[in-house]
Amino acid sequence: MSSDPKRSRARELAASHLARGDAVGWFEALYAEAGGDSAKVPWADLRPNPNFLDWIAAHRIDGNGRRALVVGCGLGDDAEFLASRGFQVTAFDIAPTAVDWCGKRFPQSTVRYEVGDLLSPAPGWRHAFDFVFEAYTLQVLPAELREQAMPKLADAVQPGGTLLLICRGRLPQDNEGQMPWPLLRSELSALERAGLSLEEFEEFWDRHDDPPVWRFRAGYSRPIVCGTLR
Ligand SMILES: C[S@@+](CC[C@H](N)C(=O)[O-])C[C@H]1O[C@@H](n2cnc3c(N)ncnc32)[C@H](O)[C@@H]1O
Repeated sequence: MSSDPKRSRARELAASHLARGDAVGWFEALYAEAGGDSAKVPWADLRPNPNFLDWIAAHRIDGNGRRALVVGCGLGDDAEFLASRGFQVTAFDIAPTAVDWCGKRFPQSTVRYEVGDLLSPAPGWRHAFDFVFEAYTLQVLPAELREQAMPKLADAVQPGGTLLLICRGRLPQDNEGQMPWPLLRSELSALERAGLSLEEFEEFWDRHDDPPVWRFRAGYSRPIVCGTLR
C-alpha cells in the first residue's frame, strides 16, 4: 500500500469505479473531489514533465506553428510548454473538471483545451498532428483498454509526424502491481502494428520521483508513404 494519502485515494476511487465496470470515471471523480487543490491530485506537479523537457532539449524541437496534440493533459503544464515552443496545441482530457481547471490556470492560453476520450477521438484528429505527446495516461488504463487506446494514439500522428510516449515500464518477470500499472515493452508493439515506426527507445530510473521509478520513453514516427503528401 502507498503511504501517500492522495495516491491511496486515487487507488480507492479507481478500484470502486472498476468494480462497477467503469475504468475511466474515477478521473473526473478525483479532480472534482480535489476542489481546485492540486495537492490532492497525485500527478499534478504544476510544471512540465522533466523527462519531456530533457527530450525536447536533446532534439532541439521547435513548433514553428506546427500542430501538436497532448493526450490526457491533466492540469495543462505540458500543453502550455509546447505552446511556448511555438506549437499550435490541442490538449484533451476525459475529465471535464481538469479541462476547466486548465482554463482557470491559463486564461490567456493559446492552447485549445477540450474534453475528449482517447478511446473515441474526434474524427478530425486522424493523421492531423505533427507532434503527439502522451505521458502517464496509458499506465492508468487497464491492459485491455491500453490495447484499444494505442491504435487511436497512433492514428493522430500525420505522415512524417512524431509520437512521444513516456510511461512506467516493467520486465516480463515483474508483477503488474497496482495502479498505475507499468507497461511491458512488448505492449508498445501495438503502436508499430498501427503503422508507426519506432525511432528511439530508452528505459531508465526516473530519479525525479522518490523512490525512483523505472520508465520507458519512446519516440515513433509515421512514415511518409509516396503519394500521401500531394
Ligand atoms: C496520470 S494522469 C497524467 C496527466 C498528465 N499527462 C501528466 O503527466 O500530468 C492521466 C490523465 O489522463 C486522463 N485520462 C484518463 N483516461 C483518459 C482517456 N481515455 N482519454 C483522455 N484522457 C484520459 C486523466 O483524466 C488524467 O488527467
